[in-house]
Order: sequence, then structure tokens, then C-alpha cells
Amino acid sequence: MDDVSFTVEKGETLGVVGESGCGKSTMGRTIIHLQEATDGQIFLNGEDITHVKGGELRRIREKMQIVFQDPYSSLNPRFRVEETIREPLKRSGRFKDRTVLNEETNRLMELVGIDERLRQSYPHELDGGRRQRVGIARALALNPEFVVCDEPVSALDVSIQAQVLNLLMELQEKTQTAYMFVTHDLSVVRYISNHICVMYLGQLVEKAPTEALFQETLHPYTKALISAIPSIDIDHPMKRVMLKGEITSPITPAPGCRFAARCPYAADACREPQKLREAAKNHFVACCRMEEINE
Ligand SMILES: Nc1ncnc2c1ncn2[C@@H]1O[C@H](COP(=O)(O)OP(=O)(O)OP(=O)(O)O)[C@@H](O)[C@H]1O
Ligand SMILES: [Mg+2]
Repeated sequence: MDDVSFTVEKGETLGVVGESGCGKSTMGRTIIHLQEATDGQIFLNGEDITHVKGGELRRIREKMQIVFQDPYSSLNPRFRVEETIREPLKRSGRFKDRTVLNEETNRLMELVGIDERLRQSYPHELDGGRRQRVGIARALALNPEFVVCDEPVSALDVSIQAQVLNLLMELQEKTQTAYMFVTHDLSVVRYISNHICVMYLGQLVEKAPTEALFQETLHPYTKALISAIPSIDIDHPMKRVMLKGEITSPITPAPGCRFAARCPYAADACREPQKLREAAKNHFVACCRMEEINE
């Protein structure tokens, strides 16, 4: 990850898109301290939390949570539904009384729509949608202010995807939690986000308010991504930009534009490092040929 900078406001969703291996999960995990940042700064409510440790880290962990990409591997197979949801409540030490703890567990199960009869079930007895709901309940247990949703619906089928997305949006309305929503599904990201960051090989290539990104796409990589969205409009087929090759190794990348090797517009100027420039209000693009190719 290099030179990636953004802000997520209370009650808003920042969508993060980019192909497999570009570093979306790494970024989410680094922000909430599941892995350590080697450089840069992370702020929560204006407080620099980049190097917090020990008790201090536990305190901020309550405010920052994650819903993992894979609902099959992110739940402890030996924990029943109620145990999984109760765990963060118990750990916080805020709920000493058993009855209160149980009431809170009930509230969370109801919040995410898991039936009371599944209370004693193990993860393997649940379908993918319900497992993800348990993961969401666990993440929301302590009313976090910021949640990384790392492709929370990519392992689910389409009808359940919609349910889980709507659930996340409803909960956000109630709690004003800020989400960083990682996905490579652009239709999902358009539906759920206020702002979108497009990443390529560990860098930001475009950052814009959601509709601006779709209406006035500026970066060649974003154009290719958007052209790949399946459309049901057979009268006006969109021209698909086919990218060749694959994302290159993230180990010691060349200093120039990391997308250049696959970019249909690559030129000599692209060998220089690319800086994010503000093309329109709040719309940032890292492409030195932006003006030429968007004439
Ligand atoms: N534990 C690890 N050790 C070494 N390299 C890793 C590790 N985890 C991830 N990587 C590498 O870091 C890069 C970014 O991985 P990351 O999981 O953040 O991608 P991603 O954008 O989340 O991809 P996906 O869309 O498939 O989830 C990849 O090249 C990956 O191989
Ligand atoms: Mg990932």
C-alpha cells in the first residue's frame, strides 16, 4: 500500500473497489490494527491511533470492528450462535450481570434477524446468509463507530446478498456507524456507498462521490472496471474495455504508473510517478494523461 489517503464520515459508507490482490483487505485490516502499519497515520475522531498498544488498543478496538470476507472461516466452529455474539460483550467487561448479558445477546440477534431457535446452533448448522448475520451481530455488539465490511456479501447468493446489504444499511441509519465497504462488485458499491475509492496494486487511482465516479469516470482502470458491469440493456450494449494480463507483483513495483503495463493509453509520461489530482470538486484521479483521454 502506498500513498492511500481518505476520510470516512460518521453515518457514511466509503466503497473500496479493485481487483483481487490489489490490497483492499490489507488496507481494512491495517486500519483496525489486525496488522501493523509500517508507515503513515490512522486517525479515529481526530485522535492519532497509529501506534496504540495494550489497554489503549483494546479500548479503540471496541470502536472499530470488521465483518470478514468469508462467513465460513470467520466464525469459531466450536462456538454456538449465542456464544459468538456474547463473546465481545463479555470481553468488554461492561456486562457483569448475566441477565443483562442475555438481554443484550437477544437484542443483537433480533437486530440482525436471527431466530431465537438458532441460539444453540453451531456455525456448520447455518446457511451462509445466517452465518454472515452472526458475523455482523458480533461486529456490531459494542456499537462500534467504524466497521470494515470486507466483501461481506461476496460469498452469498444474490437474494441473500440483497438482504444482508439492506440490513447493513438499515443498521447504519439507526446507529450512524461509518462503514468502509470492500468489494469488487461495482453494482453493490454503487448501491451502498457515498464515496468510492478505486485501487490498483496498492494505490488509489480514483476517488470520487459515487455518482460522479459512475457518470464522469476519468481513470482508464475505472473505465475498464465499469465497462465490465453486466447490463440487461440489449439495445445499447456498452463497449467493454478488455484488459490483458494480470495485476503484477506488489513487491518493489516500478516508480511510474502501476497500471501502465495494462493500460490502453500508456505512453512515455506514465513512467513518472502519478500523483492524485483534483479533476472536479472532490473527484481525484491519478493519471497524467487524464485530460487527453477524456477530451
Ligand atoms: N499474510 C500475507 N503474507 C504475505 N502476503 C500477503 C498476505 N496477505 C496478503 N498478501 C498479499 O498482499 C496482496 C494484497 O492482498 P489482499 O488480501 O489485501 O488483497 P484483496 O484486494 O483483499 O484481494 P481479494 O479481492 O481477493 O480479497 C496480495 O498480493 C497478497 O498476495
Ligand atoms: Mg480481500
